[in-house]
Amino acid sequence: MALMTNGIEYHGEALDRAAQQHLVEVIRALVAEAPLYVPVMPGTGQPMSVRMTNCGPLGWVTDKAHGYRYQETHPVTGKAWPAMPAELLALWERFSGYHKPPQACLVNFYADDARMGLHQDRDEEDLQAPVVSISLGNACLFRVGGLTRRDRTASMRLSSGDVVVLGGEGRLAFHGVDRIYPGTSTLLKNGGRINLTLRRVHR
Ligand code: SIN
Ligand code: FE2
Repeated sequence: MALMTNGIEYHGEALDRAAQQHLVEVIRALVAEAPLYVPVMPGTGQPMSVRMTNCGPLGWVTDKAHGYRYQETHPVTGKAWPAMPAELLALWERFSGYHKPPQACLVNFYADDARMGLHQDRDEEDLQAPVVSISLGNACLFRVGGLTRRDRTASMRLSSGDVVVLGGEGRLAFHGVDRIYPGTSTLLKNGGRINLTLRRVHR
């Protein structure tokens, strides 16, 4: 395990190929129940390039009128999010070091031309709990900075099976995905990248 920067842990190749393949199957089943949808930015209504869904009691959503928030239902189907699979609970146990279970897992799907701008994860009430982030599929260029948007940033490549933990001083670090590297993994048949972030929302 390497410490990237204050409070941010990088666990390279934390999941072996079999575990990655199994997680992809688990995610396929989730997506069949809670389809990926195109989230839009608050205010502008600008669509994001990443498609999203969630599992667990709560899911992170965003729309033009009501902005960033957690809610119990899928914004398109209106149904409760699928339960958090045991495999994801086990990853939280392994990496979070936190005594309460996660309440949301945001599933981000990046097509090879998608990206995610620099942002903080700060819609959670419990900021003591870390965010545990799992990468699957094509590699990406991940950027992480400090507690203000102006702080210097560092970039690193995240590959399939890598786990990043944003905790402690790093919990509110700005981060984003500058690009996906097409053709760098054979895990996903049609390319792209999946990122899973496990979060505790309420104290
Ligand atoms: C996120 O910040 O929600 C996603 C980060 C990532 O895709 O690695
Ligand atoms: Fe984030």
